Amino acid sequence: MIYLILALAALMLAVVLLPTSRKAVTSTEDTQRSDLLEERDLLVSELRDLSTQSLPEAERERAELTFKARLARVLRALDELPPAPSGVTLSRPAHLPALLVTLLCASLLIGGGFTFFQSWRYMGVGDAEAKQLQNVLKLPELQSKASRSQNPEDIRAYARAAFDAGKFRESAQAYGDLINLTRDTKDAEALRRLGVFMSTNEKFRAQGLGLVQLSVQLEPKEPEGYLLLGYTYVNNGAPQEALDAFLKFRDLRPMSLEADEQIAQLRSALGQNASGEELFAQNCSSCHGTQGEGKTAPSLLSSAAIRDEAALRNIIQNGVGSMPAFPELKGKTLDALVQYTQSLQK
Ligand code: HEC
Repeated sequence: MIYLILALAALMLAVVLLPTSRKAVTSTEDTQRSDLLEERDLLVSELRDLSTQSLPEAERERAELTFKARLARVLRALDELPPAPSGVTLSRPAHLPALLVTLLCASLLIGGGFTFFQSWRYMGVGDAEAKQLQNVLKLPELQSKASRSQNPEDIRAYARAAFDAGKFRESAQAYGDLINLTRDTKDAEALRRLGVFMSTNEKFRAQGLGLVQLSVQLEPKEPEGYLLLGYTYVNNGAPQEALDAFLKFRDLRPMSLEADEQIAQLRSALGQNASGEELFAQNCSSCHGTQGEGKTAPSLLSSAAIRDEAALRNIIQNGVGSMPAFPELKGKTLDALVQYTQSLQK
């Protein structure tokens, strides 16, 4: 229904604007926008292509998540740009009806954007992104409900929505209220979400760590426990423990990319090497595919170049043809990547 109205409005707009389009003045200044739009279209088509490739499920989901995250970033950047120039000069006042219909359509679109079309701009983006927005919008209502009723379930609903919306202070406060009210010291979700926030304050970081550790003991199979434990260790200045926790999180939720950046940072801070698989995923898979099966760049699976170790090292360090060089990959890092890349053919 919503899409029908939207399509109808767009159609009317097109019909009305078509005759005036010859007089259109398109701004050439807005190159940033067109770049972003181009990137968006590219990402959307890459996402579409993904579904036609015969990849293992896990790989596909991982790749999909990456694309969706990039897409979300592009959409956000687009949102932040000033409104696009309409590109239309209404130089003919005789077109009053046209103007009226245009205004009607525009108000329908804009009004829709704020009300029942909440999600239309986010079409094709992961549910998580849309949900986060909805959560932000729901917060005031949930908060007043919780403070009115003082019902544990209402408080939890508010705490969860605040957490999902990235409002960690509000969320921690609510989880604290919840524990105070229920006196339930085995509420793992509340413990870890309160604990990780406490750990951001120097005075409470040790106590925060205690709470998150307790939550992991209570729910040893819950991935979020390890993710938050990782952050809490970082805040407590314990990088090795943090790394172990993030790795455990990724074991439990291999599709998630949430800890990848932390893992890479901690590894380099600790002077440890990323695995060849991670290095390939970070540096090569965007062009050569997640398994080296080929994408925008040729497949590596039947490439003779990767069987020759010296040639492979040379290609990575110096690039070849339109492939960029990776001079920063050297030493043990390069060894691990070379080994992994060669293993793709076995
Ligand atoms: C920006 C896209 C891009 C990235 C990133 C990239 N490559 Fe390439 N790669 C290419 C292109 C394009 C070619 C073909 C170059 C040519 O022959 O002109 C190529 C060629 C190669 C070849 C030679 C294949 C053959 O049989 O001739 C190897 C090996 C290779 N890449 C490995 C890697 C590795 C390993 C990484 C990660 C460190 C990587 N590439 C990252 C685009 C890329």
